[in-house]
Amino acid sequence: MKGKYQSLSLLEDLKGNEIEKKRVLVRVDFNVPLDEKLNVKDDTRIRASLDTIKYLLSNNCIVILMSHLGRPKGHVEEKLRMDPVALSLENILQRRVIKLDDCIGEDVQKIIFKLNPGEIVLLENLRFHQGEEDNDPVFSQQLASLADIYVDDAFGAAHRAHASTAGIASYLPAYAGFLMAQEIKSLNRLMFHSDRPFISIIGGAKVSSKIEILDRLTEISDGVLIGGGMAYTFIAAQGFEIGKSIYEEDQIKFCKELMEKAKIMEKVFLIPEDVNIAFEFTQDSDSFNVSKEKIEKNMIGMDIGNRTIESFKKVISNSKKIFWNGPLGVFEMDKFAKGTNEIARQIASLHGKVFSVVGGGDSIAAINKLGLINKFSHISTGGGASLEYVAGRNLPGIEVLKK
Ligand code: 3PG
Repeated sequence: MKGKYQSLSLLEDLKGNEIEKKRVLVRVDFNVPLDEKLNVKDDTRIRASLDTIKYLLSNNCIVILMSHLGRPKGHVEEKLRMDPVALSLENILQRRVIKLDDCIGEDVQKIIFKLNPGEIVLLENLRFHQGEEDNDPVFSQQLASLADIYVDDAFGAAHRAHASTAGIASYLPAYAGFLMAQEIKSLNRLMFHSDRPFISIIGGAKVSSKIEILDRLTEISDGVLIGGGMAYTFIAAQGFEIGKSIYEEDQIKFCKELMEKAKIMEKVFLIPEDVNIAFEFTQDSDSFNVSKEKIEKNMIGMDIGNRTIESFKKVISNSKKIFWNGPLGVFEMDKFAKGTNEIARQIASLHGKVFSVVGGGDSIAAINKLGLINKFSHISTGGGASLEYVAGRNLPGIEVLKK
């Protein structure tokens, strides 16, 4: 099968004394949601790196984990410390995880150099240092000085050219972890396997954040189904009233051109035919199903409508490969989660018959809530990263792992 990044240096290829008892610095993407009490709300990303961590432990390595959390922009932000993440990992692994209060410096080095094989440390949030996002070579070298080997398992951050995802590979032998390798394999299967039809379902609030991917998916898929907030800019581009729905005027031209392109390429390109509307953006608002021709000035589109759900389901049930990114309505409010939930259930019902990939925190949260996580072929831990991968971009965090 064709695909990008077929020839990477892989952790799984390191055996015996190439890996045993080494100090291994692992970039993970533990950028997980926290609740008001600062507990980890969803540990999907932590669990996703367990294969890598366990492989290193089984080889008696000293495991040094590092990640960013949120966007502190080079300053210490107390609520973005990694402590809750360390606690969550400790509970999952049922063994001690030593959490350090910084990620570089003499104190950090002293502790790490005294560790025994089989011990695990989690460094403090990398983005407390400006050098991380600046991809500062000095910061990369300071991180590199902690270990013998660098392993990158942070697929979710692979689209960022940061010190811990890209720069560091100039100073240590660099390998792709198990999660990184799995993500690449699954996304390659999605993009390059000959199974057809290939259907893409794209939701989320804004057209502007997904222009490149919408364009690319229209080219490489057989059908694109549009839902979520972004659907209203498409509906407006078709000339309909959209009331108080979310809307990006500056994207009208792009939406028109994309619909025209899909037509010329003879692709299925579905915009909602009907929507579930409210009068206020709240769960308590009156709501009902209207055809898109009947949306009035005082209405807000909150979810795809019943007819749209049925036509999306029909297309999905005839597909062989599915890529889904972004919820189809305001799924956080139960009343407006029907579209997202029905589509999730429909894809799940085809488990074993289709190859389905879902990416993006919101879609994954919706699937998790329904208990359907095991009914998808691949849950990508990367929202932005999976979009850039599928759009055909080179990802800096993977480029540096090429053999
Ligand atoms: C993500 O959550 O998509 C990744 O962790 C990257 O985070 P960032 O968008 O803040 O770089």
